[in-house]
Amino acid sequence: MKTRVVKVERAQLGAFENSPGPTRLDNWSVGAVPESDLAALAEAARCLREKDTPVAFPTETVYGLGADARRSAAVKGIYAAKGRPSDNPLIVHVCDLRMLRSLLTPGDGNGDSGGEDPIPDIYRPLIERFWPGPLTILLPSPTPSKLAPEVTAGLANFGARMPSSPLALTLIKLADAPLAAPSANASTKPSPTAAQHVLDDLDGRIELILDGGACTVGVESTVVDGLCDPPVVLRPGGVSLQELRECPGWEKVAKAYKDHSEEGKAAPRAPGMKYKHYSPKAKVVLYEASFSQGSDGVVPEDRDAVPAVNGTNGDVNGNAAKRRKIGVIRTQRWAEGAGFKCENLAPSNATQDAVDGAAADLPYVVEEGDLKNDGGENIGRILDINLGTDIRRIAQGLFSALRELDRRGADVIFVDGINDEMDIAGAVMNRLRKAATESRA
Ligand code: TXA
Ligand code: MG
Repeated sequence: MKTRVVKVERAQLGAFENSPGPTRLDNWSVGAVPESDLAALAEAARCLREKDTPVAFPTETVYGLGADARRSAAVKGIYAAKGRPSDNPLIVHVCDLRMLRSLLTPGDGNGDSGGEDPIPDIYRPLIERFWPGPLTILLPSPTPSKLAPEVTAGLANFGARMPSSPLALTLIKLADAPLAAPSANASTKPSPTAAQHVLDDLDGRIELILDGGACTVGVESTVVDGLCDPPVVLRPGGVSLQELRECPGWEKVAKAYKDHSEEGKAAPRAPGMKYKHYSPKAKVVLYEASFSQGSDGVVPEDRDAVPAVNGTNGDVNGNAAKRRKIGVIRTQRWAEGAGFKCENLAPSNATQDAVDGAAADLPYVVEEGDLKNDGGENIGRILDINLGTDIRRIAQGLFSALRELDRRGADVIFVDGINDEMDIAGAVMNRLRKAATESRA
């Protein structure tokens, strides 16, 4: 199968039809889409209607791998492309509340038949505040349900989300289908936040990737269940716990995912729990915000331990063998180089783009330079990414940075963790802990 990447400009593709008020999100209406974009979107919509191969598309969180949620064969195509068994339920993406209501009414009901709103009251304040946007809500499946059984993996509830990306909303509208869509990565890999990432993972496995540029949120949606008491967060994401708690009925929302505190604090230098999630190829060493370093970066022990990563410091004849590449992801604490001795650090985004032909979608600068030992000898390269101190910016660049360092052949990646109480830092740290091979707590 040949995979094509088709660019769609981030133009104003449509709008919600109604002015602010209770019916604000009822109907997404497609606007005057530029000719070239319309061709790409119409083709993608046709694939979604007629074929059983999923289409990759951008959302504001991460790229999704979409299929018509009502057709079993199409939904099965998602699992085939990702190469994993269909054990995990999928999120259903809708373009407006009209489409959502039709999924909440049994059989052929279109949801417009008057009477009570089938959307549970508990979700009203969340929809009002966070939709369209990075929030997924669990809803009861009616009997019979219009959704293919593969979407819910046998559960009585389904997850629904209205993305804020106009491209995603317009695609759903043109396909005239709710789209089941997991993140468009190969399983175990970090979620894709640019079209290039999807291509890296799924080249030859799908026909079409719509390229709408880099995702703005960068971590997946927050998944909540408001059908139980108290309501719970099943997965931290682009909407923070604090924001949820500000909504009526959600003041006591609880975490129903494993947090750092529940996992138990690992002793310093103890291997962290080894997950197979969000993992780049390189070894990832995470420094928790609670880890007291007393310096400006990676602790000396870790710096000294680096030659052991692949044991290629030099051969017995003194020839430099394969040199080491150290990746550093800095956030709120570390100084440039994270304590490693380095020289000639310089921005290298442009070189990389030229080599790979990848779009310049990196929301940060990669600095590359020489790695030195105490004697000043060249012992490898250092790749330094500064995601800055702002939590939203860190979230935006996180998955991308892990992938970028992998693409450049890092042997080990050191990451400066952040305090997970702040804003959406909980989502960032949740993903980092799953990606980490070791953690320093
Ligand atoms: O931001 C996002 O949510 C992205 C974009 C593409 O929209 N999608 C995404 O999907 O992250 P995926 O499949 O990678 O993750 C879906 C998460 C899983 O943790 C899954 O267990 C949970 O949502 N989920 C979905 N339906 C559920 C259900 N019926 N009950 C419980 N959990 C559910
Ligand atoms: Mg995923």
